[in-house]
Amino acid sequence: MDSTVRGFEDVVKVLDKAEATSERYIEGTFFLRARVEGNDIGYGSICAAGPHATTLHWVRNDGAVRSGELLLLDAGVETHTYYTADVTRTLPINGRFNELQKKIYDAVYEAQEAGIAAVKPGGKFRDFHDAAQRVLAEKLVEWGLVEGPVERVLELGLQRRWTLHGTGHMLGMDVHDCAAARRESYADGTLEPGMCLTVEPGLYFQADDLTVPEEYRGIGVRIEDDILVTEDGNRNLSAALPRRSDEVELWMARLKG
Ligand code: GLY
Ligand code: MN
Ligand code: MN
Repeated sequence: MDSTVRGFEDVVKVLDKAEATSERYIEGTFFLRARVEGNDIGYGSICAAGPHATTLHWVRNDGAVRSGELLLLDAGVETHTYYTADVTRTLPINGRFNELQKKIYDAVYEAQEAGIAAVKPGGKFRDFHDAAQRVLAEKLVEWGLVEGPVERVLELGLQRRWTLHGTGHMLGMDVHDCAAARRESYADGTLEPGMCLTVEPGLYFQADDLTVPEEYRGIGVRIEDDILVTEDGNRNLSAALPRRSDEVELWMARLKG
């Protein structure tokens, strides 16, 4: 995980070079750290600037990096023992979130906090997904993007238009570890100490989504951390990378010097 943290720090330090070139500069920067300190990248790095963040597995990484937009960076270093990290941070390219970016980011952060709090031994695997989805549904109703009440939204899954994916998965040697496991021991299973999983809620407003106000279009936010189930709760293995919006801004300002 330390190498993954350093890889993210490397990227923040070269954002000006990425602006002068493309998302490929970000991909290459993270790859260098992964190859020098680890075995490899654990999966194709997603270096998604601006509206590319709304494409779930944007790995072409050939787009422009523009000040004022967000960068969604989903990347992880695979260690020499072949275990991989799987971390996402959504960063304001110029170092400061604007008002709407911050509103959306903070909603995803709140959803992730609720999700992480639901990771504990004896809990159901689905609990953290349900907790995070509830927060996101509440926000979407509050912002007037979907009609409430929240219970109806959740029952019909209306929030999924903008949440797009499940809130996490088991993590290990494969980034989507044990993906072929039986339903009763995975999706319908119970968490046990020693298990490691990601909690990664997101909100994605496609550039051509006419159902949301224009200013939302092209904004995608995901925050992803690697959470170890412990005897008495959980431990965030990627906690060294700040997540709260104000802490992200301070961290970026420090790194950019
Ligand atoms: N990096 C792929 C995922 O987050 O599941
Ligand atoms: Mn993941
Ligand atoms: Mn990921």
